[in-house]
Amino acid sequence: MRHRIWARLGDIPLRWRLTAWYVLLLAVILGGFSAFIYVNMSLSLKKGLDAVLLSQGEQVLSSMDTENGRPRLDPNLSLLPGTYFAFYDANGKIVSTNLPADLAARMPVADLAGNQPATVETPGTEWRVLLVPVREQGQQAYRVLVARSEEEAENPLDRLLLFILIAIPLTLVLAAGGGLFLARRALSPIDHIAAKARRISATDLQRRLDLPHGNDEVGHLVATLDEMLDRLDRAFQRQRQFTADASHELRTPLAVIRSQAEAVLQRQHSPGEYRQALEVIRDQTEWMGNLVAKLLILARSDDSQEQLEREPLDLGDLVAGVAAEFQGMAADKGLLLKTRIKDQLRIQGDQTRLTQLLANLVENAIKYTPAGEVTITLERSGREALLQVQDTGVGIPAEHLPHIFERFYRVDKARSRAEGGFGLGLAICDWIARAHGGRITVASTVGRGTTFKVRLPLE
Ligand SMILES: Nc1ncnc2c1ncn2[C@@H]1O[C@H](COP(=O)(O)OP(=O)(O)OP(=O)(O)O)[C@@H](O)[C@H]1O
Ligand SMILES: [Mg+2]
Repeated sequence: MRHRIWARLGDIPLRWRLTAWYVLLLAVILGGFSAFIYVNMSLSLKKGLDAVLLSQGEQVLSSMDTENGRPRLDPNLSLLPGTYFAFYDANGKIVSTNLPADLAARMPVADLAGNQPATVETPGTEWRVLLVPVREQGQQAYRVLVARSEEEAENPLDRLLLFILIAIPLTLVLAAGGGLFLARRALSPIDHIAAKARRISATDLQRRLDLPHGNDEVGHLVATLDEMLDRLDRAFQRQRQFTADASHELRTPLAVIRSQAEAVLQRQHSPGEYRQALEVIRDQTEWMGNLVAKLLILARSDDSQEQLEREPLDLGDLVAGVAAEFQGMAADKGLLLKTRIKDQLRIQGDQTRLTQLLANLVENAIKYTPAGEVTITLERSGREALLQVQDTGVGIPAEHLPHIFERFYRVDKARSRAEGGFGLGLAICDWIARAHGGRITVASTVGRGTTFKVRLPLE
């Protein structure tokens, strides 16, 4: 349920959500701020009113004199406008006052404590009053009441409240408008990016967003998307090239098979001639079969379908096994195939794939070495197993070295073809090494020989 509400909120355009949050936050801040000011102002106005009352009370006291032994209020007493007084004798009878008579009578003089401001309500008005006891030479207390209407403090408060009630909603409306405008401006490049990105499809990946951008978040987004398009473009081109190369490779043997078949079908042949034609066809299909097998490995490695089947295995055994398999091929070419297993090393690896890796390297070494020797070395190098295949062959010119792990890359096309090579072996080796968390590198000198190094992390 909650999840669904959040999902719903996610449908609302970002600029609306940003504005809503912003206005909500502003409302809370303004509300809190206004309440603080209101309470403070109310307190200080009440305090002010009390201070006026106290000073008026003192004024009344200082203007007292005595007549016939009784306290008497100076007839010329002058108080602030809006200050009322009532002078009571010891029995609570009003001696003199400037209040309307009924109001003066209503004041609860008996209930009031002396010298302490208090609030008294009469119909229509609230009063702030102060009762000042007057003692003359031990006589019974006369009392003076001073009073001011509380409106004095309440009117400014009411005006403040009115102001707050108008100003806050107005501010919020203006802020919402401004916020929406700003959010729209800030987010409009994103709409623009989305619209441009939508127009780029798999067939025109060489296009870029190409939007002018600064060094801000939007700029980073544009740059990141353009970089992603670069990578996609390169990957697509590689894939296209791969398909084109593969088709091209398959055309030659197909043409050979077809021409053989047509030649045979044209007229009667001797059994020997049939046999020869069938042998050519068999060789070509074998060659195609090898190619298709390698293509399949690479195609699967691309969509990471080809999972490794890791198991603990002894690299020394693996090297010895591969070397034994290639002894015959090396001997046929008059080459010496040696192994140097310096350390016994075990790793978690896919036996089939690692065998394939080493076989590809040894096969290459034998293929591209007219005379001399091929050495396979296994040793530990830090936390890695280091496998080297070294030959004394033709070597690889420096300008080709960066490319030889690319698919279908052959240094000397004619020669590799003659040797039955597709240019896929090293691409497969590279994938196998990386799938094991390792890497493969090459060093070579033309005319002196080549060394391939494979590093695989130990368990
Ligand atoms: N040991 C080596 N000495 C000299 N050149 C080499 C050596 N190993 C590889 N190369 C060069 O690198 C190219 C790529 O090697 P790779 O193993 O990928 O292809 P290939 O051997 O031609 O064909 P494939 O292995 O697919 O049958 C080769 O064509 C060859 O030119
Ligand atoms: Mg090869």
